Amino acid sequence: MSVQEIWGYRHSLLKGGRGSEVRFRPERYDGRGLPFRARVAGQSFALADFSRGGLGVFCQPSEVPAMGSELKLEIELQGEIHFCARAGVVHSTPSVGGLVVGMAFLDRTLDVDHLFAVHAAVQTAQKLIADLQNELSSAAALPAELRALVADMRLVLEAWRNKLDGLEAQSANAPASRGLGKQGSRALLDRLEVGFVPGFLDFVRRFDALTCELAPESQAACRDFCKAHLLDLLSLAPVHRRAYQKPLGYAGDYLVMHYFYIDHDLGDSLFARLLHRASCQVTAARAVSSRVGYLKEKVRQARQRWAGSRLRVLSIGCGAAQEVQELVAEEPQAAMSFSLVDQDSQALDHCQRRLSALLREPGPDGPEVHYYRLSVLQLLRGRAPLDALAGQHLIYAAGLFDYLESDVAQRLLVALLALLAPGGRLIVGNFDFSCDTRGIMKYLLDWDIIYRSRDDMLDLVPEPVSLQRHVEAESTGINLFLVLDKE
Ligand SMILES: C[S@@+](CC[C@H](N)C(=O)[O-])C[C@H]1O[C@@H](n2cnc3c(N)ncnc32)[C@H](O)[C@@H]1O
Repeated sequence: MSVQEIWGYRHSLLKGGRGSEVRFRPERYDGRGLPFRARVAGQSFALADFSRGGLGVFCQPSEVPAMGSELKLEIELQGEIHFCARAGVVHSTPSVGGLVVGMAFLDRTLDVDHLFAVHAAVQTAQKLIADLQNELSSAAALPAELRALVADMRLVLEAWRNKLDGLEAQSANAPASRGLGKQGSRALLDRLEVGFVPGFLDFVRRFDALTCELAPESQAACRDFCKAHLLDLLSLAPVHRRAYQKPLGYAGDYLVMHYFYIDHDLGDSLFARLLHRASCQVTAARAVSSRVGYLKEKVRQARQRWAGSRLRVLSIGCGAAQEVQELVAEEPQAAMSFSLVDQDSQALDHCQRRLSALLREPGPDGPEVHYYRLSVLQLLRGRAPLDALAGQHLIYAAGLFDYLESDVAQRLLVALLALLAPGGRLIVGNFDFSCDTRGIMKYLLDWDIIYRSRDDMLDLVPEPVSLQRHVEAESTGINLFLVLDKE
């Protein structure tokens, strides 16, 4: 094997310079983008280029120093001297709009890295200052009342966190019999809610009132400002953290709903648990919980309407399907077939796990549940197994249309109507504008949904379709339901 095959090269074949390269000169850099200037004989010149050993400056013919002369040369930036040397004038070359005069340093070399470092620092500082000024002036342009509310809330949250963290640390250091323990901390939180929750809910309401009519050009600044001041504390509550982080890639997943329905006592610290409890009591959370009772009632009404037949119910965007879990637990002998549709396999897995435990010993005519991983898009494209889904007595979608633009919502409505049996009922839910949690969802949690009025809901119904239609709401008044009865 040859030396070249072993090392990939041969020393004896290394190339030197060619032509003018043979006279080695240290690397030259373009000086035109740099803010430095050269000061020579009381005059200031822009840099054309520079190297460790010399530089070129842009001159007018009248300014050119005598060829061969030796001068004091300084490189400066905004009055600060970064290099000083004796320099000899060595050439003058025509260039666009004048001449480039070359000078060689005679008594020292230039630390080019220093110039680049200073330039980078200048650029970084300029950008940072401009960004901060922008940020601060956008924040200053927000309504003073809104800024004050956010600042007050920060103070309140910090005060509660500090007190509860202190208490927890004390308890951790105390002998076991004196510590808070699981039961003690739950009992304590039950009592602390009285002091914390009303103020938190009031903040959420006032925040909504102050942000609901923000001009579009102020909305980004509002998001930045509010997040900068509150998100670190708010996201200590698991429900806020998950809603904001969106680990499944979209807002309002099944687990956030599950937190609202059941898991109110979660968190890594007393403060996190208190905040999580409070967050499960905001209007949107109460509305989500309240629709469980509404949907159960609708299923029961449908059972009466279709008494004697096995009831066929389809939930689109089923999420945690809390209402189905409760119905199955409460009526284990009821002849009901539920089809649960969601695009998210984790949501379906959650439902399947919980429901299969409840359905372990179903009666001969008891409930059964079928799971379909299908998206709205797939439903609209008529993907199989749509045949299996046809002939439903009741179809509903809760917490799904709030994310669908009107054209898609209308098309979905038509597709769902086609799956109803004659005499069947379609119920479509959507949050109303009156929800006072809009501000915190939008500006702090990046949880954007489409709110609709009663008229907006009725406008979704395609014309001409012969249907009985009306809009109703569950007990909080926040979930509007468009109810369509097929003839
Ligand atoms: C806010 S949750 C509501 C869940 C449930 N209906 C409830 O009331 O608790 C919305 C659910 O819709 C599902 N979803 C969102 N967009 C969807 C789409 N394009 N196709 C199918 N499911 C969708 C999500 O995966 C999520 O489980």
